[in-house]
Amino acid sequence: MAELTHLEEKLAEVTGLAMAAEAAGGKVSKLTEKQDASLVATLQKMAAEAAETAKRCESVAGNFEGKKTAILDEAREVKKKAAEMMSTYLDSDADALDGFEFLTMAEAAEVGHWSVLKTMNASARNEDVSDLVSWALPIQERHFQDVLQGSKKLAAEQDPNETV
Ligand SMILES: [Fe+2]
Repeated sequence: MAELTHLEEKLAEVTGLAMAAEAAGGKVSKLTEKQDASLVATLQKMAAEAAETAKRCESVAGNFEGKKTAILDEAREVKKKAAEMMSTYLDSDADALDGFEFLTMAEAAEVGHWSVLKTMNASARNEDVSDLVSWALPIQERHFQDVLQGSKKLAAEQDPNETV
């Protein structure tokens, strides 16, 4: 397998996280449906944007001569690890708030990784990566704010003295 540069590895990581975010949106939508239908639309928009992010990442990966397969293999590894984390965190008695708390961690991870890719590309100066980061980072920052607000909304709706 072709060895990846640090920049290519970071591109693989944001790609894998976007792939995982699409699945996480679906899973948390199911947990949320019965409790707060108004949040489901936000989740569905996020999942659609995650799919678009993964698609754009894959197209940028295709511009790395001879590295596309290795970048996407690494992305799928990251996706697998993220999916394992989700299934560990969201066990069978997870509710909508647990789902949103998980997404708060996941979206913070995405913001962090995109920021790292941006910093790394400040010296690498790859134009495709630069365009991709400019498009994706504000979206991930909005995702993080949306799931944080969703968590707070669900928390406010819960009776703190009720047993779980
Ligand atoms: Fe996201």
